[in-house]
Amino acid sequence: MKKIEDEKNLDQKKILLRLDLNIPLLNGVITDSTRIDKILPTLSHLLKYNCKIIIISHIGRPKGKINLKLSMKPVCDYLTIKLNEKVKFVSKEIFEININALFSDLKEKILMLENIRFYEGEENNDQDFAKVLSKFGDIYVNDAFSCSHRAHASVTKITDYLPSFCGLQMNQEINALKKITSEIKQPITCIIGGSKISTKINIIKNLIPKFKNIIFVGGMANNIIEYKGFQIGKSVKEKNCDDIIDNIFSLAKKNDCNIIFPSDVSVGKHINDKAINKELSEIEEDDLILDIGKNSIKKIKLIIDNSKTIFWNGPAGYFENENFADGSLEIAKKIASQKKNIYSVAGGGDTIALLNKAQVINKLDFVSTAGGAFLEYLEGKEIPGIRSLN
Ligand code: 3PG
Repeated sequence: MKKIEDEKNLDQKKILLRLDLNIPLLNGVITDSTRIDKILPTLSHLLKYNCKIIIISHIGRPKGKINLKLSMKPVCDYLTIKLNEKVKFVSKEIFEININALFSDLKEKILMLENIRFYEGEENNDQDFAKVLSKFGDIYVNDAFSCSHRAHASVTKITDYLPSFCGLQMNQEINALKKITSEIKQPITCIIGGSKISTKINIIKNLIPKFKNIIFVGGMANNIIEYKGFQIGKSVKEKNCDDIIDNIFSLAKKNDCNIIFPSDVSVGKHINDKAINKELSEIEEDDLILDIGKNSIKKIKLIIDNSKTIFWNGPAGYFENENFADGSLEIAKKIASQKKNIYSVAGGGDTIALLNKAQVINKLDFVSTAGGAFLEYLEGKEIPGIRSLN
């Protein structure tokens, strides 16, 4: 995969830049700008080389129809402020834009096209649509790892028509993922939470052969606790998971991977309750498991200390109630405190929220804002956007 950082012949080149600026909007106001903030280095890099930049992105799923609630305009305005550089919004239909007239004002350096998913050709990965898009630039750059699992025209087909490169952020994301999948510094530990084991089973199966420890926390640990013969009261659990868990334990045994689950828990009678620490044998019929227990926290911290790489996806408990936030916060702080010794990667919306709450988000080596693409990569699936760049 060619990296745009390595390309020196960029002066005055028109760069068609695919970004994932699919950020949450509430009444046209951006409520989380992380994804925008992360691509600022790519824009600065291109500006430094005197490039002209045409940004393509999407917001939401307008399914080939114009929906002005999903316009890129607020993102364009935000970028102008953040970069301290005018980003011109081009609201005109792509087919009607006079490409030769773009950048006629020599001061203009960055343009942003309207939501690319307003066009049917995008999600259909349409060849003619990709050809039209390619006319906008001399070079194509994909800095949108988080939508590279979509075989869409501006992500994959476009690379048939232009010299294509990956952007700074995409390169960083892939390097981080390689460090937990193919270029691992051992021993490596995965801490995995979330409520449904079935949605992550393909990742777990793909990681077991490479990982030394897989630690189950959060809702999905409840299934394992019950599988091991303990009652879990009214706690969150997924039905019909015993075969999946059988599979996990037998695969782990074959691959010498330790499966760890909480040995004690923190319970309440309802989610707003105070926390009581209990051994697994003490859990009552009307208890809700809402966090891992004190001894489990100690054990997990020890495992973190003895690891060289950590991958974390999914909080340890219901951290929205601070009485049940200890497990998640202690894990977060422990990983952050080992920054010098451990390479750490985290991902997933809840995990990011937790890392922000613990104020350690910048202390991990890489935090992925990609949802589906991140999970598919970890499942070992081929990512179409990466394939096309290759
Ligand atoms: C994301 O937010 O994960 C990407 O932008 C992809 O969005 P999609 O799931 O609508 O394709």
